[in-house]
Amino acid sequence: MPKIAVLHGPNLNMLGKREPEVYGSLNLEDINVKIKALALELGLEVEARQSNSEAELIGWIQAGDYDLLIINPAAYTHTSIALRDAVLAVGKPVIEVHLSNIHKREEFRHHSFVAGVALGQISGFGPESYMLALRAAHTHLLLPKQGR
Ligand code: DQA
Repeated sequence: MPKIAVLHGPNLNMLGKREPEVYGSLNLEDINVKIKALALELGLEVEARQSNSEAELIGWIQAGDYDLLIINPAAYTHTSIALRDAVLAVGKPVIEVHLSNIHKREEFRHHSFVAGVALGQISGFGPESYMLALRAAHTHLLLPKQGR
């Protein structure tokens, strides 16, 4: 069974309380439960983790104990060349996720250092962004290329 690492970046542990008008009312635990339920349906193993620390996120990326990484780098999206370099160093496929549509928000959120080294970016669908990413991961890992 292919293994997906789901990494949630800084302040995502505050979901549910944090700016609910932007990020919605579900907390991170609720979202992880939904992710795991869909993963089970799709035949994917999932390990989900959150950290506020850039160093810890880099360590988990570097560990490479997954077939595909789904990451919401949160604010590090817009600041971290180090996260991008970690993704490049490991060479595993990555899908970038955002709850909000970063392209509709402040200009400083429009640029992502991760997007250029990801398979793709899913942004703006709330918690559903993670579900879409899981479905994309499933397609990428399990469906033969001619069937896509
Ligand atoms: C976010 C968008 C980022 O700009 C922000 O810093 C976050 C959350 C999102 O999921 O919409 O913390 O990644």
